[in-house]
Amino acid sequence: MREKQFAPATERNREPILAVLKQILPPTGTVLEIASGTGEHAVYFAPRLSPRHWLPSETNPILQESILAWREEFPSDVLSPPLDLDVMDENWWEKVKHQDLCAVVCINLIHIAPWAACEGLMKGAEALLPQGGILYLYGPFKQQGVHTSESNVSFDESLQQQNPEWGVRNLEDVVSLGKVHQLELQDVIAMPANNFSVVFRRGINNK
Ligand SMILES: C[S@@+](CC[C@H](N)C(=O)[O-])C[C@H]1O[C@@H](n2cnc3c(N)ncnc32)[C@H](O)[C@@H]1O
Repeated sequence: MREKQFAPATERNREPILAVLKQILPPTGTVLEIASGTGEHAVYFAPRLSPRHWLPSETNPILQESILAWREEFPSDVLSPPLDLDVMDENWWEKVKHQDLCAVVCINLIHIAPWAACEGLMKGAEALLPQGGILYLYGPFKQQGVHTSESNVSFDESLQQQNPEWGVRNLEDVVSLGKVHQLELQDVIAMPANNFSVVFRRGINNK
């Protein structure tokens, strides 16, 4: 049987994130969610952001099952089953067949993965998004190399203890990487619990 998994933080952060998404997402099209986790965000956001279409994805099979279980409990015409996507796989974006992608949303991934995941995410967003498309990131960030709170200092230490390649990223490094991939910084929004929303817009090809 399919089992729903639970991530309690999603109930705390979903409203503030939804408020930002309503402001920044293009009015129509498919939103690809990277690292959807349990699927709780997907089932909450999809009907509330209609008529946009929500396309979740996950690399962990247990969580893919969880997304399907949540979707069974909260079915929606605008919510697809998850794609099996790992942003560290070469050319992962070729698995995404949707032609009408308007945004890529990625919540709480890039600090809980090697830097190569952020690189892969940006590469894929560049490949998939049309001009004007949005890449939305949510999570903790350092600013100019400095943590924005004491709690993020200990969080960062605990991440690096779990895996030395993980860690809270420096916002400026993420923004610089975005530029390399035609993703122009549009906005940085302070969120509850010392997190940020970071919004990029796909510019014109100038490579
Ligand atoms: C902290 S959880 C966040 C999940 C969800 N977005 C949320 O906010 O509840 C990090 C997620 O990233 C996924 N993940 C880790 N490495 C990944 C990769 N290379 N590509 C795609 N997803 C990855 C994990 O499976 C996990 O679901």
